[in-house]
Amino acid sequence: MAEKDDIILGLESSCDETAGALLRSGREVLAQFVASQIDLHRQYGGVVPEVACRAHMECLLPGVKRILDEAKITPADISAIAVTNRPGLIGALLIGVTAAKALALAWEVPLIGVNHVEAHIAAARFAEPELRPPYVALVVSGGHTNVYYIPDDATYECRCQTRDDAAGEAFDKVAKILGLGFPGGPRIEKAAKTGNPKAFHWKNSCLPKTGDDFSFSGIKTGVLYAARGQENQMRGPVLLDEKGVADAAASFQRAVVHALVTRTLAVAQETGAKWIALGGGVAANGYLREEMARAAKKIGARVAIPPMNLCTDNAVMIAARGQELLAAGKIDHLGIEALARGK
Ligand code: KG4
Ligand code: ZN
Repeated sequence: MAEKDDIILGLESSCDETAGALLRSGREVLAQFVASQIDLHRQYGGVVPEVACRAHMECLLPGVKRILDEAKITPADISAIAVTNRPGLIGALLIGVTAAKALALAWEVPLIGVNHVEAHIAAARFAEPELRPPYVALVVSGGHTNVYYIPDDATYECRCQTRDDAAGEAFDKVAKILGLGFPGGPRIEKAAKTGNPKAFHWKNSCLPKTGDDFSFSGIKTGVLYAARGQENQMRGPVLLDEKGVADAAASFQRAVVHALVTRTLAVAQETGAKWIALGGGVAANGYLREEMARAAKKIGARVAIPPMNLCTDNAVMIAARGQELLAAGKIDHLGIEALARGK
């Protein structure tokens, strides 16, 4: 069972960040590291799983050693190890899970498997301790675009999801189409600052006419045709000038954010929830943060948004979720599996 002074070691390796964190009492970050692989994957224009796995292997244990030294913590001080075991790139997850099992066995401490999506939501609770159920959470990253209704601490009802690409994936692909490079989200956000968001009429194109879902593949094709014509597609050059690229980036960003805010607000209104939480890499987007705050204010709801470094992948959120699971007595055994799609 959880104690007041628990120290949790959180480990994250589900995609392209290797991260570790030591968290005391679920609130105090004693030390952490995030080894981003962005520079390794840039040359391929996206995450290459084999490259990610190798980097996780190289960075994980040295990173753990570094934060233990920095926090002056010994293995005997650790109450539990929390590790992302689902969902994510299977090879990448396996490296974190295997390392966590080995450490748990060697140090004789409990092991807790953490759902990465739930951890993104835990980051919002960590940042905003007043956030309590019932609330609505938008998790928006390179792999997920889900709106959850959370009536109590243990229930995550998925109310909206994407029919095709995740929003972050769309940011990355559209940045590639516009010749802005990788990673797409921050590049699009920067280019959009000088663009006209009304230059292209894409505003409603991420909201399918029927159903409550998101769809980001249609707008991607729209940007492709606008930027490179219908014939040559990715083989041809970008036909837009700098202003045209900025306009396309701003119009795309506006459409994605409009869809995310519309669906999240609809769930808040349906359920009467007075809090909206944001999580995931795309929640680092300044325009989304502003628009969500503005829309929530109109319906009298408050918004909990983690700081930028807790929106993108990190291990503080894994340790924070681990602390909650430990407090609820949800400890796993050394046989836990890594699951690419597990809930
Ligand atoms: O949560 P995350 O770090 O990893 C996953 O679990 O996927 O999210 C990464 C995603 C990428 O698609 C990246 O382009 C996007 O988050 N992202 C952004 C911004 N910063 C990162 N998207 C829009 N605007 C940003 N500023
Ligand atoms: Zn993530």
